Amino acid sequence: MRKKVTVVGAGNVGATTAQRIFDKGYADVVLVDIVDGLPQGKALDMLESGPILNSDSSIIGTNEYDDTSNSDVVVITSGLARKPGMTRDDLLLTNKKIVSSVTEQISSRSPNSIIIVVTNPLDAMAQQVQKVSGFNKSQVIGMAGILDTARFRTFLAEELNVSVESVSAFVLGGHGDTMVPVVGNTTVGGTPISKLITEERLEEIVQRTRDGGAEIVSYLKTGSAYYAPSASIVQMVESIIFDKKDILPCTTYLDGEYGISGLYVGVPVKLGANGVEEIIEFDLNKEELSALRKSADAVKELIEIMDKDD
Ligand code: LAC
Repeated sequence: MRKKVTVVGAGNVGATTAQRIFDKGYADVVLVDIVDGLPQGKALDMLESGPILNSDSSIIGTNEYDDTSNSDVVVITSGLARKPGMTRDDLLLTNKKIVSSVTEQISSRSPNSIIIVVTNPLDAMAQQVQKVSGFNKSQVIGMAGILDTARFRTFLAEELNVSVESVSAFVLGGHGDTMVPVVGNTTVGGTPISKLITEERLEEIVQRTRDGGAEIVSYLKTGSAYYAPSASIVQMVESIIFDKKDILPCTTYLDGEYGISGLYVGVPVKLGANGVEEIIEFDLNKEELSALRKSADAVKELIEIMDKDD
């Protein structure tokens, strides 16, 4: 039997995620949204591409959470997206309400699922989903580090005129202006990046990575990125449903690792059938560790604002 993946939110990120999973044919997909007709229309359109793409998966669009019952993986994308000039944090309280109500619907019907949270501000929303669901911390994971890392690798590969596959990197921290591209762990074909690019140029690339989401928003004007975000989600889905145990940068609950406690922050994790199966502690230098803790402080501020709103 194929695995069942529910995608909540039929906007650009949700629909593109559903499409990528359906196209590969390894899981049945449920696309759920509150807007009548939107998930139904998009899902039927995708289903009708099956004969061309050789996908025998099923995909349905629905407004009813009962259709999501017993999902193996649930991806939550619902919420407002950024407009030009807005930070991810500006979305906090509105998206908190949306994500909390989605979580109640999902967690009661798929109590054994792994939930991937995508709604911004990402780290705070992951924390909220875990709180409302009451799930084990390992079952609720945020998607951001893979996206931020993909942007960093893209820019480095362009700069050095090499395959993206030859660039190995990890971007940690919160998915915001304080994210931490770990320069010390970045290599190109095995050579440390510091030997290949000047410090100044590297700093420019790091800054472009931090601004990567905003760069897309400034072009699109009415929404935010979705091709690279959906590809990032699918990498997580595959590591979970195929129990690959890939080591990927994801937002997870830290309980003392990296000297951070009680917060969802982006760090390398081993992702398998049980969700986060291990948190990997990189040997960070002093600067990187203090940048990661500063990033965690920024997440903490958001959690405090959400707590006051309870
Ligand atoms: C981005 C948004 C989706 O980074 O957070 O593109």
